[in-house]
Amino acid sequence: MSETEQLRIDGQRLWDSIMAMGEIGPGQQGGSCRLALTDEDRDGRDLFIRWCEEIGCRISIDDMGNIFARRDGRDNELSPIVAGSHLDTQPHGGKFDGIYGVLAALEVLRTLHDNDVVTKAPVEVVMWTNEEGSRFAPAMIASGVYAGLFEKDYAWSITDSEGNSLGDELKRIGYMGEMPCGQNPIGALFEAHIEQGPILEAANHQIGVVTGGQGQHWYDVRLKGQDSHAGSTPMSCRRDALVAAAEIITMVQTLALKFAPHAVSTVGEMSVLPNSRNTIPGEVFFSIDIRNPYAEVLAKMAAQLATSIAAIVERHGDECEFKEIWDKPPVHFDLDCIAAVEHAAVRLGYSHQHIVSGAGHDACQVCLVAPTSMIFVPCAGGLSHNEQESAEPEDLEAGCNVLLHAMLALANKNGA
Ligand code: GLV
Ligand code: MN
Ligand code: MN
Repeated sequence: MSETEQLRIDGQRLWDSIMAMGEIGPGQQGGSCRLALTDEDRDGRDLFIRWCEEIGCRISIDDMGNIFARRDGRDNELSPIVAGSHLDTQPHGGKFDGIYGVLAALEVLRTLHDNDVVTKAPVEVVMWTNEEGSRFAPAMIASGVYAGLFEKDYAWSITDSEGNSLGDELKRIGYMGEMPCGQNPIGALFEAHIEQGPILEAANHQIGVVTGGQGQHWYDVRLKGQDSHAGSTPMSCRRDALVAAAEIITMVQTLALKFAPHAVSTVGEMSVLPNSRNTIPGEVFFSIDIRNPYAEVLAKMAAQLATSIAAIVERHGDECEFKEIWDKPPVHFDLDCIAAVEHAAVRLGYSHQHIVSGAGHDACQVCLVAPTSMIFVPCAGGLSHNEQESAEPEDLEAGCNVLLHAMLALANKNGA
């Protein structure tokens, strides 16, 4: 048995780091609010960099604000074995979504540091910018630029609801680095994450060996009717954009039910103009998110969505701008990386199963340009994107030990 086979991470230190990060941008109900490129995001990044520097890592930041913390190997000509995720959160975010993946990767490097283990290939922790897509849509934008899926100029030009651009906000918080995004190589990427769904908990499995991620389409919809007086406009004379939107929202839900059991669909963001109780709403903006693990089914859902929206809008006599802002096909992870995760879970004696990710992840972008896989651990009630999101310390520790051994297997491939 090699000396590194005995290595285990420090579960308490991992937990304490997750709790400390959760204090930055605290939510109202026990979670976190650290929207991408806000002051809170900057403070979280600063803390992460401080922790990485304490164990001697070298930091590089690219011009999408992605942060790479490197621990040299014996052969630094080899591409690094990388692990990480994101530190930004949803507005009512939990303490674990993304944060776990970054800090589990840091815990792996801390464990190597404490035990003076030098890997053959270098190892790195990565923190990707704006995974959530909540302040700046679409999601996973910076890992998407890394993977060549988005142009950098497009990514920099995206604005939040107040008109601030992603590029300006990156500069404002001091995280637009010099290195061109995509320049640094990744030999393989692992991302540890809470499952964000109920499957592992229901099966009583501690580890999800993630084989891929489902596809998703995001849309912006703007409906225009006519503002008019809520008291004096007869029902027959109204062009109420919100009533048409309500019909579309119901249709969006029916669409996913029709393509059960795998399809999901959500209208999660909406604004109503002029948003006054005694004016009939003349304009409504809302988002639509549809997802399915199978590309052919997702394409059918997308086609039916467009046809149904056109029919509803015509019946209401409104104007409609219906724009697809993102089309992310389903992805399949690398067989060697999946095997590395599975072997680690088997050797460490953790109960596990294969699983397809319902949520989007940076790994689902980077897998197009580097061998990739993910490790899931259960979260209570499958709840995520909710301040109540929680996970058991021993499951987080198990996932991090799997990450450690999957990374070691690839970093020491062909001779330790
Ligand atoms: C990312 O959190 C997603 O929308 O799946
Ligand atoms: Mn996440
Ligand atoms: Mn998320």
